[in-house]
Amino acid sequence: MEYLDKLSNVSVLGAAGKMGSGILLLTALEMTDQSLRNPGKSFRLNAIDVSQEALDGLLKYVEKQARKKVEKKPEHYRSYFPGVKDEELPQRYVEAINKILFPSLQLSVAYDSYLIFEAVIENQDLKKKLLGDIDKNNPNKPWFFTNTSSIPIHLLNDALQLNGRILGFHFYNPPAVQKLVELITNEHNSAEMIAFAKEYAKNLRKIIVPSNDFAGFIGNGHFMRDALYGIKEAQKLASSMPLYEAVYAINKVSQDFMIRPMGMFQLIDYVGIDVVKFIMEVMNPYLENEDLHSDLLDEMMETGVKGGQNSDGSQKDGFLQYEKGRITGVYDLNSKSYVPLASFKEKVDAFLGEKPAAWKPWKEVNFSPDKKTLLDNYFAALRKADNTGARLAKAYIKNSCEIGKLLVDTGVANSAEDVNTVMLTGFFHAYGPINDYLKD
Ligand SMILES: NC(=O)c1ccc[n+]([C@@H]2O[C@H](COP(=O)([O-])OP(=O)(O)OC[C@H]3O[C@@H](n4cnc5c(N)ncnc54)[C@H](O)[C@@H]3O)[C@@H](O)[C@H]2O)c1
Repeated sequence: MEYLDKLSNVSVLGAAGKMGSGILLLTALEMTDQSLRNPGKSFRLNAIDVSQEALDGLLKYVEKQARKKVEKKPEHYRSYFPGVKDEELPQRYVEAINKILFPSLQLSVAYDSYLIFEAVIENQDLKKKLLGDIDKNNPNKPWFFTNTSSIPIHLLNDALQLNGRILGFHFYNPPAVQKLVELITNEHNSAEMIAFAKEYAKNLRKIIVPSNDFAGFIGNGHFMRDALYGIKEAQKLASSMPLYEAVYAINKVSQDFMIRPMGMFQLIDYVGIDVVKFIMEVMNPYLENEDLHSDLLDEMMETGVKGGQNSDGSQKDGFLQYEKGRITGVYDLNSKSYVPLASFKEKVDAFLGEKPAAWKPWKEVNFSPDKKTLLDNYFAALRKADNTGARLAKAYIKNSCEIGKLLVDTGVANSAEDVNTVMLTGFFHAYGPINDYLKD
């Protein structure tokens, strides 16, 4: 079956969710473009979710994004609508989307699809139930592209006896913005299915990194271990200072001293303490000689402090407290309240010491045409630096490198380059974890 035939009837499950809405938008744009280029062919995209209100919101989101896209690049759309004035192009394009897009609360609309994107909540039983139901009732032997963050794909394949008709197509959040997709295939997938996945990703202008089928894949395989390391370091420091001060210290080290876009505790808050804990729990049974578990995450969950994001994308309080995106306090588990940052920042900053002189903030380094020189200079200075902040950062960076190597050694990633690409593109690190910067 050709690319366009497979694309002629597609369903997205969990279409109104964080990931599903982005996947739905990207697929709607790709299918609409294809429908305009191929007027003789029919296309149908089912957006399936369990809440009508959320689906209504999804349609508004898709329309707004589509209009923006056409307004930004009218020249791309003129050929689809000959003779139509530029200012009318967005409306015409939205009408074309609406011709192919069908929101639905019924799973049964997917019974005619050839391709199913699955982005419901990370619950193995629910995913099995929904995919199994579709597979039983759909005569087309559909392909399933799951967005699971942590469930090994072969478990779904085996449980549902799909004989390779499922692969992992792991978008990053938010799918419309993030360039990275981890593609998790196995020997049972047909060459046709893998070729389709690659062509679809290319049309969406995504960077594909192959990952092998191990719980967590490359991205979470690194992130979860890296997060756990940071949490444990904070707990160690807490033998000589209050835990909330130690959390601030490690957050600062992992952002500033390591030139990352966010400190580790801010990143955990951003993803959601509940989500991080949950992904660790899903990965844990599949890991040998490792225990991906944190009692600190458990304790935070017991207090109901979860982080995550508000519907407008702003950060909810978690380990850290935020005001207009700025950190203003750190959660204290003893008093069950936030301690203002101003009351201890100076003391902890002095404890960590100055950043090496060649230091520049992540934004400046990451987007500089001279990034390599800036990093070389920084790491030369960091190697020589010997204050507490520098020592903690060097150990953290080395551990991150070890995690990267572990992913290659255990066959999760095919190469060091793949690990680095995932961390550079999916996590916006300025440098890949597998590097020689601190080699003696
Ligand atoms: N959030 C992330 O950063 C991220 C990144 C990569 C992958 N993922 C994975 O993507 C998937 C979705 O995660 P999310 O963060 O978008 O979750 P989410 O909770 O934002 O969205 C899940 C959606 O599924 C819908 N849903 C629940 N039950 C359903 C059912 N029976 N039928 C149809 N729809 C149903 C919900 O209404 C919701 O809209 C998970 O597998 C997650 O692991 C998440």
